Amino acid sequence: MTATLGEKIKLTIFGESHGLGIGCVIDGLPPGFAIDLDAVKKEMQRRAPGKSPLATARNEKDAFIIESGFFEGRTTGTPLCVLIPNSDQHSGDYSKLKNVMRPGHADYSGKVKYNGFNDYRGGGHFSGRLTAPLVFMGAVAKQILAKRGIYVGAHIVAVAGVKDTPFNPLGERADTFSELAQKTFPVLDDAAGNEMQQLILAAKQSCDSVGGVIECMAINLPAGIGAPFFDSLESRLAHALFSVPAVKGIEFGKGFALAQMPGSEANDQMYYDNGMVKTYTNNNGGITGGITNGMPVLFKAAVKPTPSIAKVQKTVDLSTESNTELVITGRHDPCIVQRAVPVIEGVAAWVILDMLLAGEK
Ligand SMILES: Cc1cc2nc3c(=O)[nH]c(=O)nc-3n(C[C@H](O)[C@H](O)[C@H](O)COP(=O)(O)O)c2cc1C
Repeated sequence: MTATLGEKIKLTIFGESHGLGIGCVIDGLPPGFAIDLDAVKKEMQRRAPGKSPLATARNEKDAFIIESGFFEGRTTGTPLCVLIPNSDQHSGDYSKLKNVMRPGHADYSGKVKYNGFNDYRGGGHFSGRLTAPLVFMGAVAKQILAKRGIYVGAHIVAVAGVKDTPFNPLGERADTFSELAQKTFPVLDDAAGNEMQQLILAAKQSCDSVGGVIECMAINLPAGIGAPFFDSLESRLAHALFSVPAVKGIEFGKGFALAQMPGSEANDQMYYDNGMVKTYTNNNGGITGGITNGMPVLFKAAVKPTPSIAKVQKTVDLSTESNTELVITGRHDPCIVQRAVPVIEGVAAWVILDMLLAGEK
């Protein structure tokens, strides 16, 4: 089933962008965990649209209702069902997109897969809106991980070629992650952040969009989480991260650059630090053989430019089986990267928790 993923913590997402609502069912949460709902709401607000000219004007509150699995402030251990109602749909914006396919979006592939029965309004089930339940899942996972001293954080490391200061591969402070989470535009170097924001606004002005890269880190993970081959931590993370719409590349540690390095440079040489095995560099992103090696887990996610743009594009009209041109109206993010940061963090936290618990069985 494509809408469910996870081993110990199974997450099922459901809904469409312009239906009654979206949500998720989380199965396998440990019983008795006191979820801090205010912290979850803050996480949801980091992703929610309608807050700045840098994001879509669709004004969704992303308020959630917990339908089950939560009693007297604690998880019960039974499936936790969350509903996130849709409240600000402009379905009329999408009437012409029933048969005219948006280049770069899932309109054509989705229509073929579902024999034309898919709800195409606002991208339907393919909408970035479906990432709200991922943020909910991630917010809960982060709280459970934090009780074990494990923290996950992310920032925008590049937008259309403008770069932020990268994370120190050997580790960041947990406080740095919480400071980033307070920012509406989460970067370490605010001057670079301003430049990125100008680029996004300029793209919007010229009816275009831009993409970028998110860098994510998990600290204080013990060595030994993961598995070789098919269930490597890299495989599991990549599976979940590629499920986030618009993510088109994942790179662990130095990733593609490793292919250019000699082994003597690429290898992370080792030493003892107060009885703990550490490495002088972290080119492998904290994972070797699919298993954590005790260094911070570090990866980057490439996010493509928003496909829905107001520039004239060539496409096809399936109703007339003819070539045509399309100018997309409606409300869209000129850059997805900013809103995707808590999504990437949340997905990473969920997968790491899932593998941690799976290793304890
Ligand atoms: C947080 C978020 C917001 C998004 N907002 C938009 C949007 O406003 N307009 C749009 O065309 N695509 C948006 N997308 C991307 C599309 O959902 C995605 O490109 C599309 O489903 C095709 O999937 P693919 O890019 O993974 O191939 C968003 C994605 C995310 C994660």
